[in-house]
Amino acid sequence: MNKLRTPLLDIKGLYKNFDLYNLDKEIKGCQNINFSVFEGEFIGITGTSGSGKSTILKCIYRNYLPTKGEILYNSDIYGVLDLAKATERQMVRIRKDEIGYVSQFLKIMPRVTAKNFVKEAILEIGGEGELAEKEAIKMLKHFKISEDLWEAYPNTFSGGEKLRLNIARAMIKKPKLLILDEPTASLDNGSKVLVKELIQDLKSKGTTMLGIFHDIEFMENVIDREYNMTKGSINE
Ligand SMILES: Nc1ncnc2c1ncn2[C@@H]1O[C@H](COP(=O)(O)OP(=O)(O)OP(=O)(O)O)[C@@H](O)[C@H]1O
Ligand SMILES: [Mg+2]
Repeated sequence: MNKLRTPLLDIKGLYKNFDLYNLDKEIKGCQNINFSVFEGEFIGITGTSGSGKSTILKCIYRNYLPTKGEILYNSDIYGVLDLAKATERQMVRIRKDEIGYVSQFLKIMPRVTAKNFVKEAILEIGGEGELAEKEAIKMLKHFKISEDLWEAYPNTFSGGEKLRLNIARAMIKKPKLLILDEPTASLDNGSKVLVKELIQDLKSKGTTMLGIFHDIEFMENVIDREYNMTKGSINE
């Protein structure tokens, strides 16, 4: 049935190599990756450490420029666009309006309060102030970020607090496509449940998601399909 629809994301023959010039060596990040993601699906990627999972997500979000291959993304703004060839300008627009990304490692802006960090994401996509404030508070409450921390700077937050804040910021935009790199890896069980609840909620509202999960059993009843990576290649 899926075969008749245009995929939201269609990855064809994707390769990413890293040239380490100083060592005169080439490292293979991922090789000949082929898979599709259809609208509304939640796809899980598993695989051993170093097999190339994060590399694929970083190519989609264009943290990395692919070496070879196509990443066809069905954009609301541009129609079908090859993210491997899109301009920087197009990528800025796509990142702002359509694709959200939660990194495996914590990234926190210095000198922005926790509440504003989450709120800014809504302002960025043109939401107005009062609504952004309400939504941000709702999100902070959902992720059980203590009210004492809302006006504090996240650089002193615990690892789990930073991660929950990062996820809150990515999810609050309700992007068309959300890519998640091990969003639950360093969380306690209670926090994992909060992430899962929001994933379920976003899914029911139509967000398509592609996530790397170390503990995929935890997502079992939400995941539609799973891909497993071994040494740079992928299998369904
Ligand atoms: N920027 C980079 N420069 C050089 N090599 C890189 C770079 N990024 C990734 N690699 C290499 O590519 C391979 C795949 O890395 P990747 O981060 O995609 O693995 P992963 O499957 O996400 O692993 P993990 O489960 O540990 O997060 C590794 O051998 C890694 O060393
Ligand atoms: Mg990784």
